[in-house]
Amino acid sequence: MPGSCSLKFFILVWGIALVKEGLSLSETELRVSKIKNGTVIDHISGGHALDVVKILGITGKEKKVITIAINVPSRRFKTKDIIKIEGRELNPQEVHKIALLAPHATINIVRNYKVVEKQRVKLPKIIENILKCANPACISNSNEPVQAKFYVESEEPLLLKCHYCGFIMEKKDILEQF
Ligand code: CTP
Ligand code: ZN
Repeated sequence: MPGSCSLKFFILVWGIALVKEGLSLSETELRVSKIKNGTVIDHISGGHALDVVKILGITGKEKKVITIAINVPSRRFKTKDIIKIEGRELNPQEVHKIALLAPHATINIVRNYKVVEKQRVKLPKIIENILKCANPACISNSNEPVQAKFYVESEEPLLLKCHYCGFIMEKKDILEQF
C-alpha cells in the first residue's frame, strides 16, 4: 500500500531527525554535574572565580572534587562564574571574604543533592578583622593595640579606605594578603 509506505518513511525520517537532534545536543552541551554534599558559589561576576579560589586558599591538592566554570552565560548578569566544592561547607568568615571580591555571589549549601541553604553574600559598610592595612607606616601595623578597620568606598571596583591612615586599598592589595 503506497499510503502506509509513505507513513513509514515519514516516521523513519522523523525518528532520524529526533536522534540527530539528541546527538547534536549532547555534542554541543556538557552539563556540569550536581554535587552530593558541599558548597556551590554561584553568580560570581564573570572572570572572578580564580580570585575567590585564592581567597579560600584552595590549591587543588585537597583531594576534593572542585569544579570551576568561568564566563558562562547568565540570565541575571551577562556572564557569571561558578565554583562547586564537594565536601566543604564555608564558615561565616569565608563568606565575608568572598563578599569582598564577588559582591553578588550566592552561597548554596548542598546536602544529599538538595540545596538546604541559600545565602546572598553582602559586603558590610565597615570591614574589620579580615584584612591588614597595606600601608606599612599605618598605626594598625604597629605594636599598638589597634585593630585594622576599613570603609567600603566602592564595591566594584573594590576600594577600601583605612580608618586610621586613609590609605585606599585596591583589589590587588587585598589579593596579596591571601
Ligand atoms: N547545584 C549543584 N548540586 C546540587 C544542587 C545544586 O551543583 N546537588 C547547583 C546548581 O547547578 C546551581 C546552584 O547549585 O548552580 C544553585 O542551585 P538551585 O538553587 O537549584 O538553582 P537556581 O534556582 O537556579 O538558583 P538561583 O535562584 O540562586 O539562581
Ligand atoms: Zn592604614
